[in-house]
Amino acid sequence: MVAYRKTPMYCILLGAPGAGKGTQAALLSRDLGLPRISSGDLFREHIRNQTDLGRQAKSYLDAGELVPDSLTVAMVLRRLEEADCAPGALLDGFPRTLGQAEALEKALAERALRIDCVLNMRVHREALVERLSGRWMCRQCGASFHLKHHPPTKANRCDDCQGDLYQRDDDRPETVAHRLEIYFSQTAPLEMFYRQRGMVIDIDGDQSIEVVSLEMHRALGLVHTFAA
Ligand code: AP5
Ligand code: MG
Ligand code: ZN
Repeated sequence: MVAYRKTPMYCILLGAPGAGKGTQAALLSRDLGLPRISSGDLFREHIRNQTDLGRQAKSYLDAGELVPDSLTVAMVLRRLEEADCAPGALLDGFPRTLGQAEALEKALAERALRIDCVLNMRVHREALVERLSGRWMCRQCGASFHLKHHPPTKANRCDDCQGDLYQRDDDRPETVAHRLEIYFSQTAPLEMFYRQRGMVIDIDGDQSIEVVSLEMHRALGLVHTFAA
């Protein structure tokens, strides 16, 4: 589908920690042929590789705080310049503040581009906490699994790349509670920012992974390519 588009496509997945952004972005990436750009995964990669940025970001991730906009915006905009982003990108976890949203809008406008849609994933708080407490992530490719809702075929192995699965440090209950507070105070206002621009598509994220995926594919007019 993307191959027939004249301009690059940028789609934002907006939602609280545990809403399923990473899970759904991976499925959409496969079906749209667009890269998934997860700011959280980029930070974790920098931390693993012990880069300067990784050292600066680590204390924020450990505490469940947002990394300052100056560092985050520079990192994501640099990533969007890479060749695989030429047809566009699925943005997972970015932007997360009004400052980031404005910086992204400006950077795209300078290239006569814009955000195409914002998929707003709505999930109840109890479900978010339950999803994060049972999550296991792939160290290598960042895929998310869940002991109950999306178990890996082989214990502790990623279905996609056979990498090791681990539990994120920031999925501890006290850090989860803080991340949720930060989301509702700093990121939720983005919903209105994009609603005023007529870009928001609401998605009922409380449903199963397959049903949410179907709804998102439908929203993007891709339902015919959906494979459960
Ligand atoms: P980030 O990595 O982006 O974490 P997050 O936003 O807190 O989101 P999560 O990855 O926890 O949730 P998700 O929505 O991707 O859910 P998932 O698909 O895994 O950010 C981490 C940190 O990095 C931040 O705290 C901050 O410090 C920093 N950071 C990142 N971006 C930043 C930015 N822009 N600005 C500043 N700082 C930034 O699913 C969760 C679980 O649920 C999985 O186990 C999954 O299998 C399961 N699941 C998914 N969907 C369903 C479903 N429908 N039903 C049942 N289970 C489901
Ligand atoms: Mg994620
Ligand atoms: Zn993997």
